[in-house]
Amino acid sequence: MAVKTPMLEELVKGVEEGLLPARIFNDPELFALEQEKIFGRSWVYLAHESEIPKPGDYVLRYVGNNPYIVVRGEDGEVRALLDMCRHRGMRVCRAEMGNASHFRCPFHGWTYRNDGALVGVPAEREAFGPSFNKAEWGLYPIPRLEVFDGMIFGNLDPQAPSLEEWLGDIRWYLELITKRSSAGLEVLGPPQRWVVNTDWKLALETFISDSYHTLMTHRSLIELGIAPRDAKYAMYGEQVHIPGKGHGSMVIGAPPGAKLPPFWRYPEEMLERAKASYPSREQFEVARETRILLITVFPNLSIHNPIRKPDHKYQGAVPMLTFRVWHPLGPGKIEIFSWALVEKDAPEWFKEKTRLSYLRFFGSSGTFEQDDTEIWSLVTQNAGSSQGRGLRLCYRMGMDLTPDPNWPGPGVAYGINFTDANLRNFYRRYVEMLLS
Ligand code: FES
Ligand code: FE
Repeated sequence: MAVKTPMLEELVKGVEEGLLPARIFNDPELFALEQEKIFGRSWVYLAHESEIPKPGDYVLRYVGNNPYIVVRGEDGEVRALLDMCRHRGMRVCRAEMGNASHFRCPFHGWTYRNDGALVGVPAEREAFGPSFNKAEWGLYPIPRLEVFDGMIFGNLDPQAPSLEEWLGDIRWYLELITKRSSAGLEVLGPPQRWVVNTDWKLALETFISDSYHTLMTHRSLIELGIAPRDAKYAMYGEQVHIPGKGHGSMVIGAPPGAKLPPFWRYPEEMLERAKASYPSREQFEVARETRILLITVFPNLSIHNPIRKPDHKYQGAVPMLTFRVWHPLGPGKIEIFSWALVEKDAPEWFKEKTRLSYLRFFGSSGTFEQDDTEIWSLVTQNAGSSQGRGLRLCYRMGMDLTPDPNWPGPGVAYGINFTDANLRNFYRRYVEMLLS
């Protein structure tokens, strides 16, 4: 049980009142507590299976501040091995991605097979004698590793609930993306990565709930005619949260009467595949009417699948799909990992266009992302300032709303996206984990 510091007490009260202390976005003590209570016990997204399709393929990823080599062994099994030599603690993997049958430590040369087994120790007999047993000195595997539809998650807590239980009803929304085709998804290259002076929660807020910011933050895109001007477009749709889990989704369609290219404007053949591949009729119906889909899986994975303008006058616009991890580096500092993905069996012309669509709109070069990161950095600075730290911020939007009884999906849904309901649900779970 964590000690209830004044800040935690303020947080517990604040979630219910819709008033959160600004300093949660820039506070060394809270950062340390998050590492232990949140990142030490949550299912954290590591990689997509398509990043490591062949035996020996690996990528380097992080859970909290722990580096893991996510690697497919010669036996085809995916493992996550702590990148810390069992001899004296050096990193044994010096590249962010690659293919290797073995990892050799650059310090004294201990060599591990890609399933983690220690197989080589220089001068083993002379240095360690006959009693030394290499079998006891393999790389540490992550305590838990599970896969959902190609998405690899890791958990540092051996007692954690299963990934399936952790995800709960957010799976219904994830399937709108992972089951659009029975062939599954593939990444379009390695992730773009960049460091931003902000907090992981602040970045995530935009993706789990804040369609309200789009009209102002992304005004330049409205003026260029790339995003719609009418506030109805940002408001319209359902905001859904999964109580008790912290996850949330925004399913944005088009206001009644507006011209909407169905099914994100994916090519006709993909629509046909989805009809056969979605687990339920309801999921297909929802997907067909969706223009922008955002999903956030607690704690730090967000997914965004938009087509920008409903009347798609913007030349050549096709939808894009991005997965991103808001990886905390320190108080007020994150590294963003951002992947573009596409259905494996999508037409080649579409794969190329969706990649360009991603690069133009999102990612480190994308117009949207640059608008957002400028704002996140300045909010974070304020949250760490002597005056700002004492202030409480407003999370009161939509407090009087009642849930939409007609929404066909699971979770608690509101028929408008101008609400902080998903955020209040996220922070409820966040505080619960900090305190338990
Ligand atoms: Fe790795 Fe010594 S620290 S071999
Ligand atoms: Fe934004």
